Amino acid sequence: MQRVESEIARLIKEIDYDEVTRLFGMLSGGKRLRAKLILKIAPHNDKAPLLAAIVELIHAASLLHDDVIDEATLRRGVASVNATEDSKTAVMLGDILYSKAFTELVEFDRSVASVVASSVTALSKGEMQDVKMAESFNNDEAKYLYMLYLKTATLIEAAAISSAILAGKDSKSYGIYGRNLGLSFQIIDDILDITSDSATLGKPAMNDFVEGKCTLPYIYLHEAINSDDKLKLENLHARPLDEQEILWIKQMMKEHKSIERSFELATKLSNEAMQAVKDDQELVEILKTMIKRSY
Ligand code: IPE
Ligand code: IPE
Ligand code: MG
Ligand code: MG
Ligand code: MG
Repeated sequence: MQRVESEIARLIKEIDYDEVTRLFGMLSGGKRLRAKLILKIAPHNDKAPLLAAIVELIHAASLLHDDVIDEATLRRGVASVNATEDSKTAVMLGDILYSKAFTELVEFDRSVASVVASSVTALSKGEMQDVKMAESFNNDEAKYLYMLYLKTATLIEAAAISSAILAGKDSKSYGIYGRNLGLSFQIIDDILDITSDSATLGKPAMNDFVEGKCTLPYIYLHEAINSDDKLKLENLHARPLDEQEILWIKQMMKEHKSIERSFELATKLSNEAMQAVKDDQELVEILKTMIKRSY
């Protein structure tokens, strides 16, 4: 990971603009899940740290834009760039990180560059669908899961496929691993939004539904309750919630086991990911840690 951090620092320095260095320095690093994945899949490849740095720059850019889109003021435990500076600055910094990442991808074989670059198109489509779907109460699970695949799983899938190509491993199995890990990862993120608090998460908690996002626990809750409660839930959608309303949602989710049901799907997907790379104990460890995480 040391080498990934130095590669990231080198790429930022190459951008050659003090303001970018300053702003990037204000972001904290995050869990580095995608970088760790690349290093575990291609541990002996000289270019793996650069690929990991590129993917983390892409991920950081997507979070800068995501916080503007979601109007979120907290990220990785500190104020988001759109909060400390403004949305314009967050968008521009995101653009610089994305384009620097793409420039560096040119150093790689076409197959590697193309899978990583096209995942950013998918991610951006996913963000757009996420926003579109938040305009009304979405109770379509399949539609929701496809959006998750686009916005979160494709970059993780691309990290797994590209590093497998670097390492000369079977990119198809690693792709299945990355895809299912990514889906499971986002479902856990959605669960944590409800079950955790902002201090632990380092980003706003209980915020998805306020933003209009009907995440899996909300879809399952909606499916389980009677028509009066359905109406009540739909009326709470996409607006600020008071303590009483939050309590009601949490109580209903407890009663109808909506979190458990969501966690079961995350576990099932995680097991499918495990199956795809059975022999690779370190990748299985990443999954186990991911499922058990608290932020
Ligand atoms: C946040 O990703 C966005 C999602 C896909 C849920 P991470 O949870 O990997 O963010 P950092 O990099 O650790 O902050
Ligand atoms: C994931 O969606 C964001 C990206 C894939 C860019 P969220 O909006 O749920 O991410 P968080 O919860 O803000 O990290
Ligand atoms: Mg967000
Ligand atoms: Mg978002
Ligand atoms: Mg989230």
